Amino acid sequence: MSELLDLIKSRKSVRQYTGKHIPDEDLKKILEAGRLAPSWMNVQCWKFILVKSQENKDLLSELSVGQPQVKNADAVIVCVADPDSWEEAKITHIQKPALNPALQCENGILIRSLEQVIYPVSYMMLEAASLGIGSCIIGAFGSEITGVLPEIYSQVKQKLNLKDTQIISTIITLGYEENPAPADKKRKDFNEVIYMEKIGEKTNL
Ligand SMILES: Cc1cc2nc3c(=O)[nH]c(=O)nc-3n(C[C@H](O)[C@H](O)[C@H](O)COP(=O)(O)O)c2cc1C
Repeated sequence: MSELLDLIKSRKSVRQYTGKHIPDEDLKKILEAGRLAPSWMNVQCWKFILVKSQENKDLLSELSVGQPQVKNADAVIVCVADPDSWEEAKITHIQKPALNPALQCENGILIRSLEQVIYPVSYMMLEAASLGIGSCIIGAFGSEITGVLPEIYSQVKQKLNLKDTQIISTIITLGYEENPAPADKKRKDFNEVIYMEKIGEKTNL
């Protein structure tokens, strides 16, 4: 088995932290892993905000319907989808729908922007795991997507200096696991989600 697959197998969501600080050099490695992620025509339609202040973590926890791991994390990364990046990358003039999200469907740019941010989020989560740092992806929070807590969300956007067009897609909490325990991977079986040539046809892998 590859070292990466071992890491993927042992990674789990960590929601309780010791309070020990993460060294800045490790935070930088985690953020660097995100920065280097791939994206559609290399548009890199993302911004990442490192949050360490208790004041901002408390506010983000409130936005995350009170989830305690957000305020108890040593650091939090707010992952922002930036739809304006497509304009800046000069992709939007391309007239082929397959190549240009703006021509694909209503809200194509928005959907594709949110889609791109998933890759750096995964990279950062795995880099954290490789450094022995626990993380939890937070998707349950007020935003344009969930439509909940609009007042707190606009307060957060103002505080984090986000433009109206920029959307928080994901929050990543980081910290050292309290009472470390092995991952208990509850996943669908291999043959329940993986097929050969067509759905319903098992692989012989
Ligand atoms: C997009 C996304 C959103 C998630 N949102 C939350 C969340 O708001 N709160 C939380 O505690 N966990 C959240 N999780 C973590 C999942 O619950 C967790 O990844 C899943 O149960 C599998 O467990 P594992 O990460 O330990 O393997 C989220 C995960 C993803 C990928």
